[in-house]
Amino acid sequence: MFSDKVVLITGGAGGIGGGIAKMFLEQGALVIINDISPSALNSYLSNLGELKKKAVSYEANVSSSAQVDSMIKYIYSKFGRIDVLVNAAGFGIIAPSISDISDDEWDLVLNVNLKGAFYTCRSVTPIMKKQKSGRIINISSLAGKTKSVIAGVHYTSAKAGLLGLTRHLADELMTSNITVNAICPGVTKTNLVCEQKTKEELATIATKIPMQKLGTVDDVVKAVKYFADFENSYITGISLDVNGGLFMN
Ligand SMILES: NC(=O)c1ccc[n+]([C@@H]2O[C@H](COP(=O)([O-])OP(=O)(O)OC[C@H]3O[C@@H](n4cnc5c(N)ncnc54)[C@H](O)[C@@H]3O)[C@@H](O)[C@H]2O)c1
Repeated sequence: MFSDKVVLITGGAGGIGGGIAKMFLEQGALVIINDISPSALNSYLSNLGELKKKAVSYEANVSSSAQVDSMIKYIYSKFGRIDVLVNAAGFGIIAPSISDISDDEWDLVLNVNLKGAFYTCRSVTPIMKKQKSGRIINISSLAGKTKSVIAGVHYTSAKAGLLGLTRHLADELMTSNITVNAICPGVTKTNLVCEQKTKEELATIATKIPMQKLGTVDDVVKAVKYFADFENSYITGISLDVNGGLFMN
């Protein structure tokens, strides 16, 4: 399905990003897997088996515009195009109250989840415009629609901002055959979530979800595949909820 495509995934060594990268590799794409963590990149790549052949790892911090610009420049000079960008780098910090959030924590969460996507989108759009073709998919969150189940007000703000970025950029690129969409996963079972909540706490969260279960990486991957499909050219500026019915709009 994506055999002639060059795909960049930020946070690609993580739970959701890793699942997305694997799907694109299985579909024949050349996948640049970006992450800030060299150890996560190494262990992700070492588990790819045969799929590793079409995977390129690239260590960079998406919060740095210089690092993002170098990464995009490198990909374009080496592979000559960038067809799909998935912004999956991100994390939340638990903060029961706004008073618990320091200036540095606010900046950290906003810088990765929102500014990082701004940097990658800004850097990649001239290339996609030149190609007259592209797909941008931002991994926002249920938090961006309502409020975070686990993290604090900084995370909710960042993910809501990412939905604004998605809509506005979609409008800007409307006549360039580039779609920009967002996915809003609910609580999805990844290492990030399992580190922040005990098994018992996650079981309690599951009882509050109408479908009575947490989301899986695969649930999010399916939504990414849908938006990345180059046959889907008339859907842009939207956000897709993948949350087991916890929030409907
Ligand atoms: N797991 C959930 O319940 C859930 C729900 C909604 C949205 N999300 C979003 O999905 C995305 C992936 O989350 P996950 O659960 O897979 O977490 P994860 O921790 O498994 O993956 C995130 C990856 O991003 C990388 N990363 C962090 N900061 C970075 C930076 N500055 N530059 C580049 N890479 C960086 C991490 O090293 C990690 O590998 C995040 O944006 C998260 O906010 C997750």
